[in-house]
Amino acid sequence: MKIKVAKSAGFCFGVNRAVTLVKNLLKDGKQVCTLGPIIHNPQTLAHLEALGAQVVEQPEQAPAGSTLVIRSHGVSRSVEDRIRRLPVVCADATCPFVEKIHRIVAQEGQTGSTILIAGNPAHPEVQGILGHCAGPAYVFSSAEELQNSIAMWNFPQKTAISVVAQTTFSVAEWRNCLQILKRVYTNVKIFDTICNATASRQSEAESLALACDAMVVLGGRQSSNTAKLYEVCSRHTRTIFAQSAAEISREDVAGVHHLGITAGASTPASIIKEVLVTMAEINEGVRSPETADSGDNF
Ligand code: F3S
Repeated sequence: MKIKVAKSAGFCFGVNRAVTLVKNLLKDGKQVCTLGPIIHNPQTLAHLEALGAQVVEQPEQAPAGSTLVIRSHGVSRSVEDRIRRLPVVCADATCPFVEKIHRIVAQEGQTGSTILIAGNPAHPEVQGILGHCAGPAYVFSSAEELQNSIAMWNFPQKTAISVVAQTTFSVAEWRNCLQILKRVYTNVKIFDTICNATASRQSEAESLALACDAMVVLGGRQSSNTAKLYEVCSRHTRTIFAQSAAEISREDVAGVHHLGITAGASTPASIIKEVLVTMAEINEGVRSPETADSGDNF
């Protein structure tokens, strides 16, 4: 079995920045709370918890004097205001790419535009974006849902519309949505806010899936960007979703000649390495983990 790991697999800039911030605060002896899990990775969360980090669901649950970390997904303006009123120190790890969306929806809303957001309405990033919209805003999660919603929204002819996407939205689905929007609305301003890290991760995963007889997609079950990677890969080849090496069995990769591995933005390098070691063991020592790396082009 030959193994190739996607170069874009693992921690993205924003997640890395957030996790490093929490680790540095802990190192400095601060009492650290994160507003929701800082990362969709159970192993990293357990590690941070063991170091003393506490996850709170509401800002008001953070003890007085503690440092409350806003994760890379960002939060709504009203949550920012609530934090400001509390006796805590706020450490903001909102990814700059998400902050840019907050600025766009605020400015566009102020100039009278109706905001459309391509994304999962239940995702914290989308809830945060909604909470920065200065005017009417609507969310759609797919081209199909957009098509169905257009008649229901029934915007007056001259409505100015601005569209943004959740940073981890599917690139292919975004293209389908834009085709519909351009056809239906003459007055639409498009802001392509899908993060580069997401776009390149998805396109590399797709190329790898096309060249492999099986793919392993690593990441947390709650991670939306990992779910997208799984969706992209399973369109082209048999795909195994795993949170860690322990979830991949010998049977899963039996008969596989070319195995591709990719991982969501919140998957630490240690997990990717662990999977490589397991695969090397399954290969009965034919390949060492050092050679089964991303530099191998089959
Ligand atoms: Fe930021 Fe992109 Fe990661 S938006 S959190 S760098 S996926």
